[in-house]
Amino acid sequence: MKDDIQRTPDRSQLYRFTLDRVLGKGGTGIVYRGVDPENGQVVAVKLFYEAFFRNRLHLRDFIRNVNRFRKFSHPNVAHVYEFIQGDEGQCLIIEYVDGPDLKWYIANRPWNLQERQVIAAQICNGLQYLHENDFTHHDLKPSNILFTRKGLAKLVDYSLCGNSYLLSLFDSGLHEQVTPMYVAPELIRGEKATPQSDIYSLGITLYLLFVNRVPFPVDNLHALYQCHLRITPDHPSQVSEKCPQALGDLIMRMLAKKPEKRFRDCDEVRITLANIGKSRI
Ligand SMILES: Nc1ncnc2c1ncn2[C@@H]1O[C@H](COP(=O)(O)OP(=O)(O)O)[C@@H](O)[C@H]1O
Ligand SMILES: [Mg+2]
Repeated sequence: MKDDIQRTPDRSQLYRFTLDRVLGKGGTGIVYRGVDPENGQVVAVKLFYEAFFRNRLHLRDFIRNVNRFRKFSHPNVAHVYEFIQGDEGQCLIIEYVDGPDLKWYIANRPWNLQERQVIAAQICNGLQYLHENDFTHHDLKPSNILFTRKGLAKLVDYSLCGNSYLLSLFDSGLHEQVTPMYVAPELIRGEKATPQSDIYSLGITLYLLFVNRVPFPVDNLHALYQCHLRITPDHPSQVSEKCPQALGDLIMRMLAKKPEKRFRDCDEVRITLANIGKSRI
């Protein structure tokens, strides 16, 4: 449905979990659908690539974070159950979200402005919750926004790599850990990730959601970083007449090069978005 990867798992068991399907492969690992025999619950099992945890500091921070993620409870944030490490590798056990991801949605669903605004508001709610709990997502993008069958958007893969880890990566391959199309300019410059860097990634995501193309359609990594750093994208409402001017303005503000020029927080984005709807009526 989502792409053409092999869906049959290369293994039927991982730790105590029975695996029945490959849900996807990405930059950080391979994700299986599995069943926890202890309670019969269907879960997503993310097996990290061996190279993902490059140093002990990253692993230690991550385990500490997982203990906090486990207490999270928000409808727009996928629940994290546990982290397992041992002979079979390092796995994160996550709430299984049974619908497609936002990448699929953008490529396949017919245009409906209001429906897309509702989705954007849900993403804002999930991000705001992470930020209020002192976490930045670090890798917000359409494939990390999943839907339930009932259409509820949920964030996954939040804070897989913390600031200390990201900052150590600049010379050795930032692009392996964050997704270059969505990364904020200040991260490229080697600065700390903040809620505003998530707002930038959300801006790129919303550009794609409301315009149907990315703001910087270049395929060369260096050129892409230069675009994030220096180039002002085309205004969404000029690229697509379906995107109202005020919505285009909102997206452009999220994509400001300077973090302090973006919105204060995701609640402000969500409220601005809701007012765009009202002013049309
Ligand atoms: N909790 C989950 N429930 C259901 N599907 C998931 C879950 N987490 C990830 N997936 C699926 O696995 C795919 C690959 O995920 P991931 O390895 O994180 O790749 P990416 O780097 O593209 O985000 C996603 O696009 C999504 O379709
Ligand atoms: Mg992911």
